Amino acid sequence: MLLKNFCQILIISCLTSQICGNIIYQDDGYMHPIHHKSFKSDANGHQPTYESDDFWKQSAQKELVKKRLIRPIEGQAKNVIFYLGDGMSVPTVTAARIFKGQQVDKLQFGEEGELHMDTFPFVGTSKTFCSDFQVADSACSATAYLTGSKANLGTIGVTPDVKLGNCSAQANPENHLSSILAWAQAQGKSTGIVTTTRITHASPAGCYAHIANRDWENDGAIIFDGEDPKLCPDIAKQLIMHDPGRNINVILGGGRSQFIPKTVVDVEFNVTGYRMDEVNLIDAWISAKKRNTASYVTTRDELLNVDTTKTDFLLGLFDPSHIAYYDLQLAQNDPSLEEMVEVAVQILSKNQNGFFLFVEGGRIDHAHHDNMVHRSLRETVEFDKAIKKGDEMTDEAETLIVVTSDHAHVMHFAGYPTRGTPILKYSEQFADDGLPYATLGYGNGPGPKWIARSTKKRHDIRLDNVDDPTYQAPVPVPNDSETHGGDDVLIFAKGPYAHLLTGVHQQSYIPHVVGYAACMGDGVKHCDS
Ligand SMILES: *[C@@H]1O[C@H](CO)[C@@H](O)[C@H](O)[C@H]1NC(C)=O
Ligand SMILES: *[C@@H]1O[C@H](CO)[C@@H](O)[C@H](O)[C@H]1NC(C)=O
Ligand SMILES: *[C@@H]1O[C@H](CO)[C@@H](O)[C@H](O)[C@H]1NC(C)=O
Ligand SMILES: [Zn+2]
Repeated sequence: MLLKNFCQILIISCLTSQICGNIIYQDDGYMHPIHHKSFKSDANGHQPTYESDDFWKQSAQKELVKKRLIRPIEGQAKNVIFYLGDGMSVPTVTAARIFKGQQVDKLQFGEEGELHMDTFPFVGTSKTFCSDFQVADSACSATAYLTGSKANLGTIGVTPDVKLGNCSAQANPENHLSSILAWAQAQGKSTGIVTTTRITHASPAGCYAHIANRDWENDGAIIFDGEDPKLCPDIAKQLIMHDPGRNINVILGGGRSQFIPKTVVDVEFNVTGYRMDEVNLIDAWISAKKRNTASYVTTRDELLNVDTTKTDFLLGLFDPSHIAYYDLQLAQNDPSLEEMVEVAVQILSKNQNGFFLFVEGGRIDHAHHDNMVHRSLRETVEFDKAIKKGDEMTDEAETLIVVTSDHAHVMHFAGYPTRGTPILKYSEQFADDGLPYATLGYGNGPGPKWIARSTKKRHDIRLDNVDDPTYQAPVPVPNDSETHGGDDVLIFAKGPYAHLLTGVHQQSYIPHVVGYAACMGDGVKHCDS
């Protein structure tokens, strides 16, 4: 209601001033129309009227002029920030942009807004299938976009010769693939991994682990599967004890239980660790580092109090499992992704050789799996804020920033809702059964079933409270967990050699461009020529 009144005031002021139809731009190389000023109201002032043809033509002309000035940057990338939106499908990006326009930026309609990633000058797409599956999981895809080779479903940092769960194949070093994070360390760069999931979860593990089963996050999980953790070390152990994990400067995420023995109780919650080997890997990390330059933190307050000028190694594990969803973070004293990125870049950018930082918005995927559409869009907006932060803290001339996703989801964006329809609601045009359907729906998942057993009628979504972050969209195909989707995902890029990421590519192509731009890895490099 408030928003509507606000818009009416703007419309009236627009009618009485001479600025209607004008476009105002910020002079930062990208186009940002200043929205409200470009709308005209009709005579009664109620029905919105839309941007004029002049608005669209002038916007496009201005964009064209700016775009013509964009030149590929062909110097070496000193720094690389690799942003991964887990499960951030194309409809997720579009819907999050409108969600942000409506709920965060409070624009007149919402569709006219933009995400920070939208401002990147180069965009391509990534084909996400794994070696053996048409639709990817986060393990095989992490292998592709971090090591440069596709792999089998559920495996991380190992070649397609390693089938899911084959411990002896994992144990053979010939089957190990090295990641762009390892390549960066070999060039003397500082390295970091930041995620909202467990730090041992599939995506961040792609930076440092070689594992035949993504579930082998601790030794207990390996024993449970009847394998020998001495032959196949678990993901947490690889992070703390092996290369390149033990050399990583900044490690921020969740997952404490993977690192502590099952006899030890967590610092914040009444849960015990998972480790069977009695090793406290957090203590091992602390004692392996020089005390005066290393810190271990477990809360947001501690993270924000880290003196980054004096810190070269930082381990932050904020939860026994994943970091809380955005809407619960403050209550749990968990940092936001943006806050973690800020601290990480401050520490890593002290290295004159540059840095590599991996940042995952990991819970976009989790919310989708639960059909929590509101939460998933919120998490995407949070991810976008972390992108903006990293971009603002670095220089485009020497920093390659890649933003991509590992796989899609089955959330669709449907129907003919009118302009400005709240993105979490429904269009006014009803289906043949006389009921509306949500603009954003899922093909499957645990949400309420589409057809109510009692009435045999489709669920009436007008009764739902979509403002609740835990709201679950109704689904036609019931399943415990909503599935991933097989459609291509976007790659947004800026900085040195970002233009090499335009076009349609195999997911495994991406790290080859990173290696080329930053002069690292075994492939062809900018510095060779
Ligand atoms: C596991 O990998 C080993 C070595 O690569 C291979 O000899 C064996 O047949 C594989 N086992 C299975 C069950 O696929
Ligand atoms: C912690 O959990 C254990 C087992 O679940 C329970 O027996 C114990 O009472 C709990 N302690 C506290 C302080 O809540
Ligand atoms: C249903 O969800 C489970 C996860 O709980 C998943 O493993 C399974 O593949 C899903 N089933 C189908 C048919 O997609
Ligand atoms: Zn997933």
